[in-house]
Amino acid sequence: MLILGVESSCDETGLALYDTEHGLLAHALHSQVEMHAEYGGVVPELASRDHIRRVLPLTERVLNDANKTLQDIDAIAYTQGPGLSGALLVGTSFAESLAFSLQIPTINVHHLEGHLLAPLLEDNPPAFPFVALLVSGGHSQLMRVDGIGEYTLLGDTLDDAAGEAFDKTAKLLGLGYPGGPALAKLAEHSHSNHTHSTERKSPFKLPRPLLNSGDLNFSFSGLKTAVLTLSNKHQPLDEISKADIAWEFQEAVTEVLTAKCMNALRETGLDNLVVSGGVGANAKLREKLNAATKRKLCKVSYPRLAFCTDNGAMIAFAGAMRLKAMHGKGNQSYGFSVRPRWDLAELQKP
Ligand code: KG4
Ligand code: ZN
Repeated sequence: MLILGVESSCDETGLALYDTEHGLLAHALHSQVEMHAEYGGVVPELASRDHIRRVLPLTERVLNDANKTLQDIDAIAYTQGPGLSGALLVGTSFAESLAFSLQIPTINVHHLEGHLLAPLLEDNPPAFPFVALLVSGGHSQLMRVDGIGEYTLLGDTLDDAAGEAFDKTAKLLGLGYPGGPALAKLAEHSHSNHTHSTERKSPFKLPRPLLNSGDLNFSFSGLKTAVLTLSNKHQPLDEISKADIAWEFQEAVTEVLTAKCMNALRETGLDNLVVSGGVGANAKLREKLNAATKRKLCKVSYPRLAFCTDNGAMIAFAGAMRLKAMHGKGNQSYGFSVRPRWDLAELQKP
């Protein structure tokens, strides 16, 4: 079966075609990052308008790339939530209308389920059950995943998400939006990055929030305040000091994330870790997780870098998995609503 996937929950319009026999056939993405950069963050109204402009040309592109026509599509999967309501409405109304005109079923997908399952698009996909670390701009969660729709929350952030902390800290350091990749790049220029790990000494020290809390929760908002205090104390900050702070911030976040992942594996008795979401693209996080899982003889899987951040492929794939579990029966009522707030734990087995 051929599934068209539509993602429009935030600032990326993503389209993809996934074939249940042959895998991912095509995907196309338009990122609005440049448009929002001017404002230092996503402007919801502009996001919605841009999704409207992009969704049809991107659909044409994936069809052309895969050498398929609209009539070849068997079902349409789209992100119903969580996300920005106006942005979600664009993808949702487009998907339901197109499905109505083709008289094919739709599958409403939870954006985070898309992220969670994205590593399964790669070669040697991890098998259920596994522990998943979901670290994006809006979420920092540890989950036990036993199958499609079988998610048990193990730990969550008490305040800011990991990506949000990266973005806010980057802003404090005068970096552009999105802050995560910019901050990671700046950290490469730190002195600490060039010394041998055993003698590495950061001139700045930041806390490791909740590192020894005994549970699997996170808290990142204090780190941003600590960065603010540090930079106020050392004004004016030269470029190297900024890089040193960025390096120490990245160390603090990735150290806590790695420790909690290892604790989650130990507590669940599982030996399979899956990492997804935008922060999953962070090279320092991957370096630490690779080393820690190797030491404990565990396996760790990531999506390819392009599928860590938002994309249509993960939505097409999650839709295909659900459709398969429902024996090809999706929704065929063509009424629609979006779910800007939608808890992943509410999802059910299809
Ligand atoms: O998953 P995603 O595209 O969108 C959400 O669903 O939130 O994640 C975006 C988040 C942003 O906060 C961005 O700064 C962060 O992921 N991010 C990174 C990196 N690449 C993206 N954070 C740290 N290091 C990176 N390399
Ligand atoms: Zn996302």
